[in-house]
Amino acid sequence: MEALTVRGGYRLEGEIPIHGAKNSALPLLAATLLVEGCSEIHNCPHLSDVDASMAILRHLGCGVTRQDTTVTVDATAPSRAQIPDNLMREMRSSIVFLGAIVARFGQATLTYPGGCELGPRPIDLHLSALRRLGVTVEECHGTIRCRVEKELRGAEITLGFPSVGATENVLLAACTAMGTTVLRNAAREPEIQDLCRFLNHCGAHISDDGCGTLVIEGVPRLQGVAHAVMPDRIEAATYLAAAAVTGGKIALTSCAPETVSSVFPLLEQAGCVITRPQPNRIHMLAPSRLRKMGTVRTMPYPGFPTDAAAPLLAAACVAEGTTVFVENIFENRYRYVDELARMGARIQVDGRVAVVEGVPRLQGASVACTDLRGGAALVVAALAAGGETTVTALHHLDRGYDDLVGCLQGVGARIRRQ
Ligand code: UD1
Repeated sequence: MEALTVRGGYRLEGEIPIHGAKNSALPLLAATLLVEGCSEIHNCPHLSDVDASMAILRHLGCGVTRQDTTVTVDATAPSRAQIPDNLMREMRSSIVFLGAIVARFGQATLTYPGGCELGPRPIDLHLSALRRLGVTVEECHGTIRCRVEKELRGAEITLGFPSVGATENVLLAACTAMGTTVLRNAAREPEIQDLCRFLNHCGAHISDDGCGTLVIEGVPRLQGVAHAVMPDRIEAATYLAAAAVTGGKIALTSCAPETVSSVFPLLEQAGCVITRPQPNRIHMLAPSRLRKMGTVRTMPYPGFPTDAAAPLLAAACVAEGTTVFVENIFENRYRYVDELARMGARIQVDGRVAVVEGVPRLQGASVACTDLRGGAALVVAALAAGGETTVTALHHLDRGYDDLVGCLQGVGARIRRQ
């Protein structure tokens, strides 16, 4: 069994280059299916979720190659409108292929995405939005069969919640539909904006009022372009948390500071000094001991991102005073807290609320990742802990952190994988 071994207590200092964003790369790869030709997606991170997306595209009959961080997809002649259960289960976000498959083939068959470690993640919003666009959806024993009688047609759709995945599915299905789609209460995450940039570059007509309304005028077809995936704001937040717990001094390069800005006030409240000397750099100097961060409430963008809460919570474990986290997006996001407790963290969880009472020091222990961001929290905590921590169940981390070990070693962390 592979494990990370972390010897804590070393101050992080130096530069970390930020990779392309997982949550942008996945919908972008799904979007390449709409293009009747070749797309080049640059700055694509090396992640198991990206591999899973490439496997789905190959299964659908696309030519897919990767050279370093560039993935080229030839969707000239895809041949299958169906995703098998094993590929659906591999990655929850395989559901973003639904809109693209329906748009390209007029039909789609897939199964429910695999069970999720963050509590129930229904897809009702995805399906009801697709129905509004003229898709007939039949659900039977876990299989979802979608058909378009004549053609996809634009519609007025209001999402009950600004779901990221449902917004992406509507965008993918509506780009080449007949007529105009108006999507209200759409997600405003930067990854949605990245997807819109790609689609518009391919010839789509999407306008965004910046307040949650997207207007998509259908066009007959899209053509292939080259596009670079935006920088990963959650990876950036994770490395800021990692540097913060060690009293470190860090520079993040090739990042997009404005997309991480909702995380800055908390770190500043904890005593960190953050500057943005250039449009694509973040510099942070942390105090020798962090202070409490008040109350952290996760919200849809531009609020504090749910995915950044776990690494920040790990930092709060060694801060002076008590920090409260309120999770407003997912029901069950605190499974990693029991693992942090093994390291001596003092955390009380009640439903969506976690109260973190900072302790002067954590101790190394054997811990296992429970999910992607929870796994990142364990690594952050391990960097601050006395002695050695062993982290297992690394497949969770491999979904979302490209070269985690190399990035942390590069700034002085004592971390190994074996
Ligand atoms: C995406 C991100 C994930 C992030 C999340 C919230 C990707 C690949 N993943 O996930 O990292 O944590 O946004 O920022 O981009 N919901 C429903 N019905 C639906 C759809 C969603 O009830 O049909 C609920 C979910 O259960 C959840 C909430 O809405 O409680 C948010 O989900 P959503 O925004 O859809 O997240 P994902 O797209 O799954």
